[in-house]
Amino acid sequence: SQRIFSGIQPSGGMTLGNYLGALKRFAEKQNEGIETIYCVVDLHAITVWQDPAKLRHQTREIAAAYLASGIDPDRSVLFNQSQVTGHAELAWILNCVARIGWMYRMTQFKDKTAGKNAENSSLGLLAYPSLMAADILLYHATQVPVGEDQKQHLELTRDIAAKFNHDYGVDFFPITEPLIEGAATRVMSLRDGTKKMSKSDPSDASRINLTDDADTIAKKIRKATSDAHPLPETVEGLKDRPEARNLVNIYAALAGVPTEAVIAEFAGAQFGTFKPKLADLAVAKLSPITAEMNRYMADPSEIDRILGKGADRADAIAAPILKKTKEIVGMIGSR
Ligand code: TYM
Repeated sequence: SQRIFSGIQPSGGMTLGNYLGALKRFAEKQNEGIETIYCVVDLHAITVWQDPAKLRHQTREIAAAYLASGIDPDRSVLFNQSQVTGHAELAWILNCVARIGWMYRMTQFKDKTAGKNAENSSLGLLAYPSLMAADILLYHATQVPVGEDQKQHLELTRDIAAKFNHDYGVDFFPITEPLIEGAATRVMSLRDGTKKMSKSDPSDASRINLTDDADTIAKKIRKATSDAHPLPETVEGLKDRPEARNLVNIYAALAGVPTEAVIAEFAGAQFGTFKPKLADLAVAKLSPITAEMNRYMADPSEIDRILGKGADRADAIAAPILKKTKEIVGMIGSR
């Protein structure tokens, strides 16, 4: 049977990239009737120091974003990672299966330490992918919807699962399948079409935040970098035009149509025509979510209650799998 797991870090606010590449699809999976487990990965967030008050706020904000985008806490399991101790426990065991060299090869680790002394980053930042493997394997999840940037981490998850199975001579952990689908698997910065849209980019104009109001969204899209040519007649015509391609893909993902359909509609149009249409669409799709997020954020105790209940349900699924893992490894104990 199928079981989906995915997570989002509370290391900043939610961006349009997180929404289109991940969150929007999470609710779709839930509505397809698949068992879905969604997490706010606060243990991952602290691999880079977080102000405690901000971490609390951002954890609730990500939870609010999940709820506002259609995650139903009765149909999906929704919780924050640190409340289910199995994540950290299984991560330790997987730390002893994974190799240090595998971690150094991760492009995210290289990116996050670029221009800095990697020796001075946290040990947790290096081991980050092993905790991510634990998140997934703790539930024997079979599928993981993510954006393109998480592909390498998911390949590593497969390698770790396979090495565990091999080292202990078992067929225990599933080999998880990444789900990287749709027009917006890699939403790019609005300032630079070759850079990923990211919550850690110093320029706020580079991204749309789920907390931005309608005027801010429209302004950011109007000012987004573009080129001087009209939109092409075919999708192939976007090939060497990263900014144009990004805006068209964003439109397609927001509208829920293929990129081809957007090109068919706007072939030959200037950005002066296309951008206002995109801004209108973005505001129409995102404003209800922002409003709903704000409604949830007005009562943090309700969010905390939902996360607590979700953690109980997650723990109930994880506990027997963790127990069996310890048995396989040779640890004594009946708990
Ligand atoms: P995070 O918090 O960076 O991002 C959350 C999700 O959003 C996707 N995403 C994007 N998609 C398209 N375009 C973008 N510009 C963009 N930016 C982010 C990410 O691919 C991700 O799906 N390591 C993960 C969190 C994690 C996780 C897990 C995910 C921890 N454990 C287990 C899946 C399964 C991360 O940092 O995502």
